[in-house]
Amino acid sequence: MQEYSDQYIGGEWRPSLAAETIAVLNPATEQVIATVPAGGAEDVDAAVRAARAAARSWGAAGREERLAPLTRLRDGLAARRQEIAETITAELGAPAAFAASVQAGLPLAVAGAYLELLAGYEFEERVGNSRVFAEPAGVVGAITPWNYPLHQVVAKVFPALAAGCPVVLKPAEDTPLVARLFARLVHEAGFPPGVFNLVTGRGPEAGAALAEHPGVDLLSFTGSTAVGRRIAEAAGRGVKRVALELGGKSANVVLPGADLVRAVNVNLANVFANSGQTCSAWTRLLVHEDQYQEAVAIAAKAAEKYVPGDPADPGTRLGPVVSARQRERVRGYITGALAEGATLVVGGAEAPEGLAQGFYVRPTVLADVTPDMTVAQEEVFGPVLSILAYRDEEHALEIANGTEYGLAGGVWAADEESAAAFARRMDTGQVDINGGRFNPLAPFGGYKSSGVGRELGRHGLAEFLQTKSLQY
Ligand code: NAI
Ligand code: MG
Repeated sequence: MQEYSDQYIGGEWRPSLAAETIAVLNPATEQVIATVPAGGAEDVDAAVRAARAAARSWGAAGREERLAPLTRLRDGLAARRQEIAETITAELGAPAAFAASVQAGLPLAVAGAYLELLAGYEFEERVGNSRVFAEPAGVVGAITPWNYPLHQVVAKVFPALAAGCPVVLKPAEDTPLVARLFARLVHEAGFPPGVFNLVTGRGPEAGAALAEHPGVDLLSFTGSTAVGRRIAEAAGRGVKRVALELGGKSANVVLPGADLVRAVNVNLANVFANSGQTCSAWTRLLVHEDQYQEAVAIAAKAAEKYVPGDPADPGTRLGPVVSARQRERVRGYITGALAEGATLVVGGAEAPEGLAQGFYVRPTVLADVTPDMTVAQEEVFGPVLSILAYRDEEHALEIANGTEYGLAGGVWAADEESAAAFARRMDTGQVDINGGRFNPLAPFGGYKSSGVGRELGRHGLAEFLQTKSLQY
């Protein structure tokens, strides 16, 4: 077991000023694998001061000066891909294959996309008699969750640094180890001191101190809607800019005439990936009432492929959820759904067979779910799919739009254009048509309570810029 006592501040590893530590658990074994400092306001203050001291020179650095260390950082992430994947398997429980392909692979795609964008980005334009400049937004406070613990860091830190903003990162308590590995790679990449800083700590302490700090100009947060509201309140008090990437209750709508077998199989893969701990997961499958029983039967059959097991085993498709707390939340939603009248197709709230240890949840499919049920309204964040029936397209749209969220979604139809027409009427930020591939350049973010602002691509870069105009 590793006992870490330092934070990465001002270009060096410094002893934390906090006495408390956070125990990092392996969710498959329930063993403590490391401890990290539970940093508080003092560590955060030191990190923000270091970032402020670096802000002017990094903000004035030319394109090539930013591109060079960012490129070395991307190369470092590529070279250490295996170690990154193993770290995420150990602290999150992501299955080895998924950890390598998605948890470690997606950040490489995102980093590469930002390097290309920075290389060609126009930071200046002419508008009539004005020269309009895109300038850095200032010091960024980044607060990230545990479910994609490197992707969410890269999706904030790369565009912030590309835009010329120094960053103070406060990663999630459950997954600080990959964030520490990231900080080591930042150090090896040779950024000027203070451009990137890492403070591990708990949300209500380190996270709140960062959100409230007057030296932070912009808060970029991913996590729960409840905490997102508090971040936005702190941003309002401090007149800081804020970007919020919050939860979802995304609908996958299968219109009559679509390939039902494929739509249901892709939905299961989508909702069971990462043990269902994905903000954009399609947690509600909407099918026409005439096809409902058929869809349920397809889902029951497809679910057999998902057997929970040791995430370190390369053949495992479904690992545990991140923590005991998360397991209890998810089980509570399953029990609650059954009490409200849903039908259990597969899975259930009991511990999976043969797994006495570890935060495992049975992959669960619920039928006869109605739109008013808690499980159809709230984010579960576990391997749980709800199948709902609709009467006609208008009813499907009403159900799809009938939650407080609007992050992602899917539409399947016989032809792509009619699916796209339906998707345009959905109150949600991103929709995949007939299983369209994830695009790391496409803006990602939510309508309604799913958030404010966009990540990825040029929209993601623009979040970290502010504009100045000179008239002459
Ligand atoms: P959370 O929202 O508490 O944690 C996310 C981050 O916010 C962590 O770094 C945490 O330390 C920080 N944080 C917590 N309280 C804070 C505060 N008062 N001030 C500043 N920062 C604070 O999420 P949690 O509790 O781990 O998960 C609970 C639920 O949230 C999940 O079941 C899921 O429904 C949702 N969630 C959604 C995510 C998404 O990607 N949209 C990611 C993680 C959780
Ligand atoms: Mg853990």
